[in-house]
Amino acid sequence: ALVVGRRVKSRRKWNRVVGVLKELEESCETTVGRLRQVVDAMAVEMHAGLASEGGSKLKMLLTFVDNLPSGSEKGIFYALDLGGTNFRVLRVELGGQRSDLDPDVEQQPIPEQLMTGRSEDLFDFIASSLYQFVEKGNDSVQSLVTKELGFTFSFPVKQTSVSSGVLIKWTKAFAIKDMVGKEVAGALQQALTRKGLNMRVAVLQVNDTVGTIALGHYHDEDTVAAVIIGTGTNACYWERTDAIIKCQGLLTTSGSMVVNMEWGHFWSSHLPRTSYDIELDAESPNPNDQGFEKMISGMYLGDIVRRVILRMSEESDIFGPVSSRLYMPFALRTPAMAAMHEDDSPELMEVARILKDVLDIPDIPLKARKLVVKICDVVTRRAARLAAAGIVGILKKIGRDGSGGITGGRSRSDVKMRRTAVAVEGSLYTQYTMFREYLHEALHEILGEDIARHVVINVTEDGSGIGAALLAASHSSSGSVDNI
Ligand code: GLC
Repeated sequence: ALVVGRRVKSRRKWNRVVGVLKELEESCETTVGRLRQVVDAMAVEMHAGLASEGGSKLKMLLTFVDNLPSGSEKGIFYALDLGGTNFRVLRVELGGQRSDLDPDVEQQPIPEQLMTGRSEDLFDFIASSLYQFVEKGNDSVQSLVTKELGFTFSFPVKQTSVSSGVLIKWTKAFAIKDMVGKEVAGALQQALTRKGLNMRVAVLQVNDTVGTIALGHYHDEDTVAAVIIGTGTNACYWERTDAIIKCQGLLTTSGSMVVNMEWGHFWSSHLPRTSYDIELDAESPNPNDQGFEKMISGMYLGDIVRRVILRMSEESDIFGPVSSRLYMPFALRTPAMAAMHEDDSPELMEVARILKDVLDIPDIPLKARKLVVKICDVVTRRAARLAAAGIVGILKKIGRDGSGGITGGRSRSDVKMRRTAVAVEGSLYTQYTMFREYLHEALHEILGEDIARHVVINVTEDGSGIGAALLAASHSSSGSVDNI
């Protein structure tokens, strides 16, 4: 009787865990109908954000980038890339043809204390890295010829020209208080001067998405948008200036401009939100902020999974006694989560290893390991499908989703769909196969095969770095944009 009693008890516990999983699956549901609602909400918010300042959670920031590289650029350009986990310095030699692009890149992690310290220290660190990089190469550090520098700064910036702008707020792991509201390019230029480097910040503060659209366009002129899905997530696209209502009289030679959406901040009641998302948001340094990003990007996915495992562990004993590591925010990072998700060994040995090494959960049965894989799957699938809906939202806004635009009444069959390319970058997309596959699958589901075959996703590599150098090139000779 004792044995039977125990079995009943453990079955009841297992049932509870299954209940938690079921609830998770239900609240993460992304049927194609729901995704279409997200698509519509995205397109509507884009309109609202372009109509007036603060008109939407989507900031729809002007970038003043009014021409995109064509492949014919020539010369030597430098770039700095700050915004992800690593900081990069680049020297790019352009030979005047697409294939003639020769980048030299150096990357290093940003010391953690610099991410939350004083802005001067951060910029001095950046200037020193650049100095050492130039010194190592063939160019002289104190060259008399001023070198043009592109600077990718992957945070929301209110840009005032192609080479100046003010930081609106920090996102991701950065929080340098004295920098918010300040001119970023100026701070960099001062640090370069302090260091004695003869360089001019030609294109300033391009967001990483903007660098990515530049590199995407350099290789494929049908590129109309760029999306980053890495530590954070964001998108930018090529918009007609007359659609940017909040900035009347904006003149550019091309009649268009890249708009940085800052889509990480997008919000809609149609987003499938769970109690884990709510807790994650409440405990984050920026509550009520970056809601879309917190469901999609690499900084957060692992932590959502940790929260689910914690809940299951508290409600049952399938993970043994509750490990104290499970209470540690961000103890489970997204790369480890991806490795568990993609463990294809029959006994899920990689899952077992990571649970033990990272979360201090040893020796759990195969059944429980399978459960962990399932959790990763649910969380990643939702993320990838929402990112896909965001992409289609952009296509819809610019009339490239086959429906003739958001206000267009034409039916799908009336519209001749043009080839449309989207440049995509970021470790989640490039290094997490399941994520990428789910994203593509959802794009096809939402758009339908007829339209989807005209939409090309191009992976660019280091758009945020190389793209900035390309923009320094394409903007060094072109006329400037006037905001009258
Ligand atoms: C965050 C930043 C945004 C950046 C994105 C991807 O969302 O706010 O500016 O583009 O991360 O790095």
